[in-house]
Formats: sequence, C-alpha cells, structure tokens
Amino acid sequence: WPRSAKRDGGVLTVGGVDVRDLAKKYGTPLYVYDEEDVRSRAREYAAAFHDGDVHYAGKAFLCTTVARWLDEEGLGLDVCSGGELAIALAAGFPAERVTLHGSNKAPWEIEKALDVGVGRIVLDSFEEIARVGYLAKEKGVRPKVMVRVTTGVEAHTHEFIATAHDDQKFGFSRSSGAALEAVRRVLELKQLELVGLHSHIGSQIFDVDGFEVAAHRLAELLVAIRDEHGVELPELDLGGGYGIAYVPGEEPHDPKSIADGLRDIVARECRAYELAMPRLTVEPGRAIIGPGGVTIYEVGTVKDVEGLRTYVSVDGGMSDNLRTALYGAEYTGALASRSSDASPMLSRLVGKHCESGDIVVRDLWFPADLAAGDLVAVAATGAYCRSMASNYNHVPKPAVVAVRDGGSRVIVRRESAADLLRLDAGVETDLDAEV
Ligand code: LLP
Repeated sequence: WPRSAKRDGGVLTVGGVDVRDLAKKYGTPLYVYDEEDVRSRAREYAAAFHDGDVHYAGKAFLCTTVARWLDEEGLGLDVCSGGELAIALAAGFPAERVTLHGSNKAPWEIEKALDVGVGRIVLDSFEEIARVGYLAKEKGVRPKVMVRVTTGVEAHTHEFIATAHDDQKFGFSRSSGAALEAVRRVLELKQLELVGLHSHIGSQIFDVDGFEVAAHRLAELLVAIRDEHGVELPELDLGGGYGIAYVPGEEPHDPKSIADGLRDIVARECRAYELAMPRLTVEPGRAIIGPGGVTIYEVGTVKDVEGLRTYVSVDGGMSDNLRTALYGAEYTGALASRSSDASPMLSRLVGKHCESGDIVVRDLWFPADLAAGDLVAVAATGAYCRSMASNYNHVPKPAVVAVRDGGSRVIVRRESAADLLRLDAGVETDLDAEV
C-alpha cells in the first residue's frame, strides 16, 4: 500500500483523500497515485546512488506529470520507444538525461533521439549499430552510445521478464563473442562515442546473486576491451529489476542496500582486474512507481459458485491490469469503502471481460457481506498496469489521479466512447458519446 494509505473505520484514504470521494468525483475503475510516495522513492534512489545516475524506466508508467516529478527529483529517464520519448519531451524533460533503449528501434525513433540530443543510445543489434552510425554521420552528430550485453544470467523471476539468459531477443551475447564484436564495430565508427556497457538481467528480482554474476562477466568484458583496444570504458549501466512487495511477506531491499551491494560488487571486480571504477547507472521502474499506485474498482456482482468460492466481479479487469493473466502475478486487495464485521469468505476478484482468465486477484478474503456498490482497492498497481492497459472488449482506459496533502487531480484523463471511435475510419459523424 502507498506510504500515506490509512484505514479509518474500514475506509481507505490515500494522500489524505477518502477513496469514496475519489470514486464519486472521477468514477471507477481509477488508478490513484500517492505523489509523495513516488517522489520519496525517487529521492531515496537518487541519494543511494549519489555517485552514479538513476534513470527511471518509463515503461513502468509514464505521463508528463510523472516525468516532471522525476525531473524535479533529479533523476534521468530510460525510454524504450519514440512514444515514451515524445512524452518525456512534452514534459520538458532534459534530453541529455534520457537514455534511448529498444530492441528494434525504428529509423524515425533514432533520428528523433539524435535530433533532440538524448544522453545515451543503447545499441541492441548489429543492424542498429550500422543504422545509428549511418544516421549520426548524416546529421553530423556524435552520440554517446552503450552496448547492451546479455550476460547469460538466469534471473530468478518469471520467464517473460528475465532478460539476460542466452535464449532471448535482447542485446549481444557475451558467451558467443557477439558483445566483443559489437564493441569492435562501434569503435570503428568514429561518429559514435562508446561510453560503456549495459546489462539488464530481468524484473521483479529479490536475489542479488544475478547482479553479482552479471557484474563479474561485465568486468571480464571491460578487461577484454582494454586488452584489445587500449580503452577503459567509463560507464556501466546495470539496468533495473528491483522487486517490490505485492503480497504480505515479500521483503524488498531498500535503495541504499541495493546501491551499496552493487557498488561493492563492481568495486571488487574492478580491483581484481585493475580497472578504474566506472560510473554506475541503474534503471529502476517498478521500485519507484509500483508501491505508490492503487486501483479502485466498484463491485458489480458477487456470485457464489456452489462449494468452490465466491467470484467478486468489478468494473475493470485484464484491460487495466494484465499482469495476473499474463504472468500469474499476485496481488492483494481489500474492501475500501466501509468497515465490516462479517466473517471472511474466500474470493476471486475478477473483471468484466469476456474470458475466464480475466482475473485481477486469484485468492483473496473479503467479508461475506460484500455487495454491489462496494469499493475495493488493489494494492501495488502503480507499475505495468496502466502502461500495459488495453482496450480489449472496447473498454475505455481508466483515468489516472494523483493525490497529495488532501488534494487530488487528474493526470491522465479517462477514455470515452468517443475516444474509442476516434480512429474508426467507418465513423462519419462527429460522435460525442459518453460511456
Ligand atoms: N531497464 C531495462 C533495459 C528494462 O528492460 C527494464 C524492464 C527496466 C530497466 C525496468 O525494470 P523494473 O525496475 O521496472 O523491474 N511488464 C513486466 C515487466 C517488464 C520489464 C521490462 N523491462 C511486468 O509487468 O512485470
């Protein structure tokens, strides 16, 4: 739950605002962000990595307001598409603190990044080295670039969000020699300034072992690069992936112990190989934006499926939170609009979509008197929920609201039926329908 969350007679308040008032004012489903929670986590990461750089991973959730919060807290930004870059620029985020990622960047995305002068471009394939090299030469610019390395680490997380084992699409593999070949090709292109190596081992990771192995293998590569080319690359970007608590019992590391741990590991490797300590960058997304977000839903139906469990159906579902369906992710939630003394009933929180995999929380205890019209809140939905939202079943995406000091404001507007029809080329009249 967000740091400011309180329960008063069963009623949830976030940022000093009663969620019943939020539901009345903005409708449901509603994503609610505790601004101070997000800002304080950003500050803690920035302080912990005071001798390096923290680039927030915009894929976790990005809009211009959040980009401004992070700018104000002194962070950089990792964007992985032209769309994310456009939002950063619309927010006035300084381009030199933006890193462009992506495993298949389109030429227009590269051109835009070069035109606005992003701080770093992370190169992910041989085609891309040639593409960025060609476009930089044409424009007469010399961008700073990094080479993304697949270190062969098997991160302990869901298969779809582990990114450093050999059999996946990202980066240049270390073991096959592709990473060193990539460095060779980049160094041949004088219009590219190679500043370092990048590695991201995966997401929602609690165990530091993977980072240790990755750091060791990156240090070996730095040595190989020094021996072959006589250059010591000054930067190392270790990506993001720090886990957060979704359900009780999960114990995430705090930013300071993450920073101290990574710094120690890299320093030890550098001492062993007589390398100068590179400047470290990390790219946390979830750990900054995840815990401060909650989703408020209204209960529509409560169906007792004889002898099995109770299905509590809310007005959103897999279109606003795909993570349960896609990764089997776990969440926790609670009745948020009143207190209840009723006994607990084993429930499954489901959505309104037309498939049975439309589950928000697989197993959850709600009071047995839960009924239509009650509000429920699902915790830790700040990361990868709105950013992965869809219009499946032509359900409009919910609004996003920020709360702070007893006040609230919309930071992303709710979609309407008119928004859903806006791109439909078969619609001739100017529809102004509301859902
Ligand atoms: N840096 C790079 C290069 C990344 O690919 C990612 C995440 C991050 C940083 C941020 O990772 P974080 O600190 O947020 O874990 N949709 C999935 C997560 C996919 C993450 C992809 N890359 C989910 O909902 O769990």
